[in-house]
Amino acid sequence: MNIVICNDYQHMSAIAAQVFINCLQANTQAVLGLATGSTPVGVYQQLIESYKAGEISFAEVTSFNLDEYIGLHRDHPQSYYYFMHQELLNHINIEGQRVFIPSGIEENYGAYCQWYEDQISQAGGIDLQILGIGSDGHIAFNEPGTALGSRTHITELDHQTIDDNARFFEAKADVPRRAITMGVATIMEAREIILLATGENKARAIRDALEGPVSSQCTASALQQHSNVTFYLDSAAASLLQQK
Ligand code: PGA
Repeated sequence: MNIVICNDYQHMSAIAAQVFINCLQANTQAVLGLATGSTPVGVYQQLIESYKAGEISFAEVTSFNLDEYIGLHRDHPQSYYYFMHQELLNHINIEGQRVFIPSGIEENYGAYCQWYEDQISQAGGIDLQILGIGSDGHIAFNEPGTALGSRTHITELDHQTIDDNARFFEAKADVPRRAITMGVATIMEAREIILLATGENKARAIRDALEGPVSSQCTASALQQHSNVTFYLDSAAASLLQQK
């Protein structure tokens, strides 16, 4: 595992964006794993700039998002579909048919979750996956207690996640209680993974992920068993690490 402690959010976003830029320059048909949340927004801004400067193209790129709230339509401002289009996809030349974001409004999730897994396989697997981390140690919506062998599935959100995400909704009661998420095992199949975290409220999750036991109580700890993963942290998020 590589751990990079960055000066601040801007610095972290710039060096993480460079990993994407290098990937896209080496492989114009790259398959990207994308994440929502406030953490990756700076990376997406840098990618838009790099695209506008003509340094990278998304014309042949495929993307897969990690997760989506159950019950929100794609035009709901808090849906992850809406978020990804606002923050990145509307500003680059990616083809709509190569953008995969789990749907929050399916009737038959058993079949749909398998379909989503199949799409990832048929695209050849994910080359580069970006992750945030929840204050409860989740990656995507793999909440504490989720099997490390899990594939794409429906999950109940943890109280901690509902509290953390309430800031995006008018009231806590509006936060959906369920989500569809790639599983831990799905994420672990990405060929390269970068995880970004800033701020003191991520320090405990980062310590548990990097220095705790590999445990379903902190699903990010599964990344200890991945052969090509880099954590980009600011000093606050790294503050509880014993080995820096
Ligand atoms: P955040 O969310 O980037 O908004 O802190 C991270 C996550 O829950 O994975």
